[in-house]
Amino acid sequence: MADAQAPFLRACRREAAPHTPVWFMRQAGRSLPEFRALRERHSFFDLVRSPELTAEVTLQPVQRLGVDAAILFSDIVTPLQAIGIDVEMRSGVGPVFAHPFRTAADLDRLRPLEPDTDLAHVIEAVRILVKELDVPLIGFAGAPFTMASYLVEGGPSRDWARTKALMLGDPELWRALLDRLASLSLASLRAQVGAGAAAVQLFDSWVGALDPHHYAESVMPASAKVLRGLADLGVPRIHFGVSTGELLGMMGKAGADVVGVDWRTPILDGWARVGPLAVQGNLDPAILGAPWEVVAREADRILDAIDGRPGHIFNLGHGVPADADPDVLARLVDHVHRRTQT
Ligand code: CP3
Repeated sequence: MADAQAPFLRACRREAAPHTPVWFMRQAGRSLPEFRALRERHSFFDLVRSPELTAEVTLQPVQRLGVDAAILFSDIVTPLQAIGIDVEMRSGVGPVFAHPFRTAADLDRLRPLEPDTDLAHVIEAVRILVKELDVPLIGFAGAPFTMASYLVEGGPSRDWARTKALMLGDPELWRALLDRLASLSLASLRAQVGAGAAAVQLFDSWVGALDPHHYAESVMPASAKVLRGLADLGVPRIHFGVSTGELLGMMGKAGADVVGVDWRTPILDGWARVGPLAVQGNLDPAILGAPWEVVAREADRILDAIDGRPGHIFNLGHGVPADADPDVLARLVDHVHRRTQT
């Protein structure tokens, strides 16, 4: 069980910490040989549906890398699958939906989530994990826009053309869709915190595709509904997206305590836009493939800019690439800890 003084939670609250906490988005997964070994015997959703296997995969990076937080092993589409939406996880591709969301009739398929029954396996996994972990557990959900983009496109997309066409062409249906997805993510996050998650992250990975005007008008209210709907629980709320340079100011006002910054925005510029919150980031994941001296130098460039200011959580600007070397990740965690020890 993690205590409230854990460096990760102190940094989320912008309190001084004994060292800068580090964790990595997608730290559990295909970069770890022990994960690949399990995946040879189980499908992705077999892992998600088994509380014991979920706990095992969640613990793998904590044990191997020495990170300051665990993130529950799951996916942003888990709550959709839990309410009966037909979704398949294709390796190297991502979630693929049998019946994409196209008309008002599709709203009926998005019934309310009943976490105690629909997510019983996830709740059980969180319970197992909080007993076993000595670092905080981060629960997570997809933000309404990113979830809608998968549902509407039917899978991953490069341009989100159908999603934007629906958003601008049928604002009433779009609002109804985002509202249902916000309720789904909120219910899932509340259940994860109820079972013991010490913080949550709302992943809006693809929101950077939007014009800031459309973000403000058609997306931000739904994300704010999720984040503000967690306020009474008192756990730190992290809000993350990629290519969000122009959106960071608004994301900082949507109800989060911590905002993720990707490598396209220098960390201090990002922090200035985010406002009086904590920040998370922002090493370019591609740098992990460079020689160690380059990785260390680029990590130092971030740490030097931060210059000891409380409220920084070290992370990548997006997820760990599948071909990342776990030894480099472990070395990076150790490097950040040593460099920032007080
Ligand atoms: O961070 C962690 O360690 C927790 C696990 C986690 C997964 N997905 C496991 C996963 C988290 C937090 C997610 C969230 C998620 N899922 C996001 C937001 C984060 C981000 O990267 O932007 C998104 C966009 C998805 C949708 C999704 N699921 C994609 C794009 C993919 C990758 C497809 C691929 O194979 O490259 C997935 C599948 C997925 N989710 C895998 C893992 C470990 C790989 C599946 C496998 O083992 O075959």
